[in-house]
Amino acid sequence: MGDPSYARICHNAHVSAIGITFAGLQLHSPLIGAAGTAGYTNELADAGSLGSLGAVTSKSLTGQPRDGNDLPRVIPLKAGMLNAIGLANMGIDRFLAERSEDPRTMPCRLFASVAGHSIDEYCLVAGRLDRETDIPLIEANVSCPNTSDGRAFSADPSAMRTLLCALRASVGRAKLFAKLPPDGDAVALAGAAMEAGVDGLTLCNTMPAMAIDVTTRRYRLANRRGGLSGPAVHAVAVRVVHDVRHQVTKGAVPIIGLGGVAAWDDAAELILAGADAVGLGTILLADPGAPRRIARGLERWLLGQGCHHLHELVGQVR
Ligand SMILES: Cc1cc2nc3c(=O)[nH]c(=O)nc-3n(C[C@H](O)[C@H](O)[C@H](O)COP(=O)(O)O)c2cc1C
Repeated sequence: MGDPSYARICHNAHVSAIGITFAGLQLHSPLIGAAGTAGYTNELADAGSLGSLGAVTSKSLTGQPRDGNDLPRVIPLKAGMLNAIGLANMGIDRFLAERSEDPRTMPCRLFASVAGHSIDEYCLVAGRLDRETDIPLIEANVSCPNTSDGRAFSADPSAMRTLLCALRASVGRAKLFAKLPPDGDAVALAGAAMEAGVDGLTLCNTMPAMAIDVTTRRYRLANRRGGLSGPAVHAVAVRVVHDVRHQVTKGAVPIIGLGGVAAWDDAAELILAGADAVGLGTILLADPGAPRRIARGLERWLLGQGCHHLHELVGQVR
């Protein structure tokens, strides 16, 4: 493999038949822990799940620590979850001081997610991650529905292109991904991200949503609005991944398909729609053992389809 740390990672991993080459990286599993649901680095280690994930993505990091929104900010729904965490995070300084990506204790890769109030803040955080760590992939969260300006950039393809061009200039070593929203014109946004020169796309973030307590007649979230995730958004993610893959990227850059995956066939559906790798979000909060179960299901599916490598199935819906 030519990458000594990867050799150690493979040694620790539970899964290998579904290994992929993704954005030039060797991952022993196509499953990626989604930002905000997998902690900062190795919180899933206790559940024994890291070995079944190819990578975990950090909580979105900003220039300064943030407390996030008032409580309540997470509520369960019949078909998923509504959250308005509001980008609570430890901030880039503490993350750089405390992060752990030692392959002996963390048997999968670490990706980092960045956010900010301004182009300068995004670039400062991403630039430091690029220069001061060897984290191989930086994901720009341009689609957070839970802060006043979290979607300022993804509301308009040209504003997003401007942000991503600036990030492109700040990130030279790591791969740069853009994480897009599930609503709005995904094809136009993905086209703008491609023009800015991103190395890949993550599809999708949570869907803006709301819940009301009919007895008290109050909003159930202190923030009133939040982001919907879990099974309720899965079919939306399948559609967005499909349209972006077939109309925009055409395989030129990899896609992480993300939204409502709870079982192996949800992951397989995203792969057939056009995802090269599959994110796991809400399911990690409900069932930290899910990655192993889903990875095993995908291995069986691969063999059942008569294929040797997952990439043979990417985008192969007919
Ligand atoms: C509690 C919670 C916190 C989240 N925090 C972040 C975050 O910090 N950055 C980000 O890009 N996405 C964040 N997300 C969105 C997830 O990464 C993912 O895009 C979304 O939940 C859809 O996937 P799922 O249906 O598998 O959960 C968060 C989601 C949840 C449920």
